[in-house]
Amino acid sequence: MLQFRDNEGAPTVINRADYTAPAYRIDTVELTFDLDPAKTRVLNKMTLRRNPDVPAQALKLDGEELNLARVLVNGQGTSFKMDGERLVLENLPEGNEPFQLEIFTTCAPVKNTKLSGLYTSNDSFFTQCEAEGFRRITYFLDRPDVMAMYTVTLRADKAKYPVLLSNGNLVDSGTLEDGRHFAKWVDPHKKPCYLFALVAGQLVAREQRITSRAGKDHLLQVFVRPGDLDKTEHAMNSLMASVAWDEARFGLPLDLERFMIVATADFNMGAMENKGLNIFNSKYVLANQATATDVDFANIESVVGHEYFHNWTGNRITCRDWFQLSLKEGLTVFRDQEFSQDMCFEPSARAVKRIEDVRVLRTAQFPEDAGPMAHPVRPDSYIEINNFYTVTIYEKGAEVVRMMQTLVGRDGFAKGMKLYFERFDGQAVTCDDFAQSMADANPSSSLAQLLPQFKLWYSQAGTPRLSARGSFDAAAQTYTLQFTQSCAATANQATKQAFVIPVLLGLVGSNSGAALPLTVQGSSDAAADNHLFVMTGDTASITFTGVAEEPVPSILRGFSAPVVLDFDYSDAQLLTLLANDPDPFNRWEAGQRLALRSAINAIVDTSASTGASVLNDAYLSAMRSVLRSPQLDAAFKELVLTLPGETYIAEQLDVVDPQRIHAVREAMRLQIATGLQADWEWAFDAHQDNGAYSPDATSAGRRALAGMSLSYLCLAATQSGDAVWPGKALQRFKDAGNMTDQANALQALVTSGHALATPALARFHAMFKHEDLVLDKWFALQAGAPDRGGNVLPAVRQLMTHADFNIRNPNRARSVIFSYCNANPGGFHRADAAGYVYWAERVIELDGINPQVAARLARALDRWKRLAEPYRSAAREALARVAAKSDLSNDVREVIDRALAD
Ligand code: TRP
Ligand code: ZN
Repeated sequence: MLQFRDNEGAPTVINRADYTAPAYRIDTVELTFDLDPAKTRVLNKMTLRRNPDVPAQALKLDGEELNLARVLVNGQGTSFKMDGERLVLENLPEGNEPFQLEIFTTCAPVKNTKLSGLYTSNDSFFTQCEAEGFRRITYFLDRPDVMAMYTVTLRADKAKYPVLLSNGNLVDSGTLEDGRHFAKWVDPHKKPCYLFALVAGQLVAREQRITSRAGKDHLLQVFVRPGDLDKTEHAMNSLMASVAWDEARFGLPLDLERFMIVATADFNMGAMENKGLNIFNSKYVLANQATATDVDFANIESVVGHEYFHNWTGNRITCRDWFQLSLKEGLTVFRDQEFSQDMCFEPSARAVKRIEDVRVLRTAQFPEDAGPMAHPVRPDSYIEINNFYTVTIYEKGAEVVRMMQTLVGRDGFAKGMKLYFERFDGQAVTCDDFAQSMADANPSSSLAQLLPQFKLWYSQAGTPRLSARGSFDAAAQTYTLQFTQSCAATANQATKQAFVIPVLLGLVGSNSGAALPLTVQGSSDAAADNHLFVMTGDTASITFTGVAEEPVPSILRGFSAPVVLDFDYSDAQLLTLLANDPDPFNRWEAGQRLALRSAINAIVDTSASTGASVLNDAYLSAMRSVLRSPQLDAAFKELVLTLPGETYIAEQLDVVDPQRIHAVREAMRLQIATGLQADWEWAFDAHQDNGAYSPDATSAGRRALAGMSLSYLCLAATQSGDAVWPGKALQRFKDAGNMTDQANALQALVTSGHALATPALARFHAMFKHEDLVLDKWFALQAGAPDRGGNVLPAVRQLMTHADFNIRNPNRARSVIFSYCNANPGGFHRADAAGYVYWAERVIELDGINPQVAARLARALDRWKRLAEPYRSAAREALARVAAKSDLSNDVREVIDRALAD
């Protein structure tokens, strides 16, 4: 791919500062496809005009892996040249009149293993055009600020491809000669080419007609392979709920007569928001109680919501350039998070969702922000845009939007959204345009007053640290909190300016455990339960008056800003918050801090053996109280009783010994298993449901806690040699009425390392050998199993020789390779370096098939520099081995070069 390299052969860096408007506009696009897996013919007729605001220049159209047959301008042959893979037209009509350009190309969908552009999967055709896949279908100005009206005609063999779909409305269809047929689609909305889609194949649809609040009728369809229709009800319910929610909360209706979702087994990401024709990884569509877990059901609801919400935030208003990606992704993640919370009926279930979202942010995004791929929510440069579909753009971007809502209030946020659509509907805009709309709609808010400083969240990478100290004056009955903020340097950003940090505060009595009313010194506001303190300087302080007893501060309630909070809590203070904080997030957080502190003490105290008791009695009895509490619900208990993960623990340490972390955490798990054994027995029995399966949050929480109980019971039993609980787990595995209970029972056997795991795994495979998504679980469970004496890597290599393994299918590759390299630190970080050798082999192998997937795997060693020896040197060697390959994709090259840079 020479065209992407400069003269020295280095990949081209794209800079945000270099943005210029397109030299041509494309008003209409008429595409005709003759679909054939080996050779698909594409006729592209466009109407273009020069952009009068830009100096006259040649038209340079993007293309990739295309065979060009013909180019006509206003119906006449024309001269053209190639600039790398770009098609350059210099002799176009002068002046600003529209002209016709007709381009005829062919491509080979069956050979397209990258799954970008037009590809085949299970004998059907699918497209994926975001970010730059449309150029693999036809020559085009493949950039999001070129928006056009599309008419698409699909022609194909009728028996092989009975269903022909594209964006918008079906306006014509019929039969052709030789057993072929056609369908013609017109999209009534203009769109950037990354939202183009087509699907052709043997598919069946679940259909639903709905009437909107405004009284309009719409047809909703979920297309799947024949045989999967019994797994589409939940996706359809989620889609109907999404349509209703966007209309109710933001006044944003469905703007199409027909809205389609299509599932495919081969997909690089979760799903894609193509206008009116969303294409989904089947993992986020197909579910019934026999094949999908509660987590799968919840993920489907959130991904269906996410793609649907893009219909406005992303599609009606899109991004000016890919540096603005978080404009649509951060905002749409925020919207899907809010949707999932609003779908919960219990307030505690909303809190559980918030905790889960924060857990993702802290275990995945905080490390990204501290590692070699750190970048701002609005990046300044990239080599391969596919590498920037990151947790920073998505999840941190969502936190930035959430902080705006915190600063302007829920109603103020809805006003800001309204103004954003009034100003920019139908346009390709920037993150600044969104933030300005929010501020302008709320002129007296702190967001409006602090807007330039607030926007540092878009431009500065790195996770800020907020340190707080408290002092209580018993005589004066005042309590003062002093804050300082800082942010470590990241690549190209040595110094940082102070962020705007919204800090939601509360006080809990250290003796009474009561929520203390908050009166801010110098303010006339009435006493309240919470106070929103907006920190803007490097240091700041706030004093509360009328504080009758020594308080424990509850800081950053609901995780009101994406920062690391340092506060030197005593164990007693944390136990007070764990038992009493009215804010469920900080209640959970107190338990995490207690466990984390014990873990870190045991890890850094190298004189202690890792088998010694790590957790103290106070912690164990606090956990017992939580588990037995009649007030708390099961889902919340399950979260409190889940120890911080190995990756999260590693992030707190300057030098990381993954084996020691693994051993200490395993010792903690064993202590919880044996120390609370009677409580786990009670919890398992008390959380059995015999009624009909329902995936709602309350029922799911009960199953999660029962599953956790079974897991701890099997762990304790396996240690003591007792056979009762493993036997019960096997029985439950056999009689389970749903996949959640069944998978939890299997997991309990596998993670405890009990011998019954072997027959259970064999039976599971036999039961589900025709269910790809269940087989993914079967593979993932084994590749992610706790390591015992280095047994996981040989098992992983063995799994790769299994008849059902296929590295070309991204879900299957992830279920084995990523489950091992990314999700199993104890198995992966081997002192003999064999895990890293395996990683390097797979990165190179995958890069030849699918660079997007390979580049994600390449990131498994991002944090190598903090590893202790011998891991550090071995990891560097593995990275160097990949770097030495001369024909790496830009995707993998960018990740590896960044990891090795100093
Ligand atoms: N826009 C999609 C989403 O977040 C993401 C996506 C789907 C994607 N497929 C992709 C991004 C391929 C890059 C490449 O909803
Ligand atoms: Zn998205």
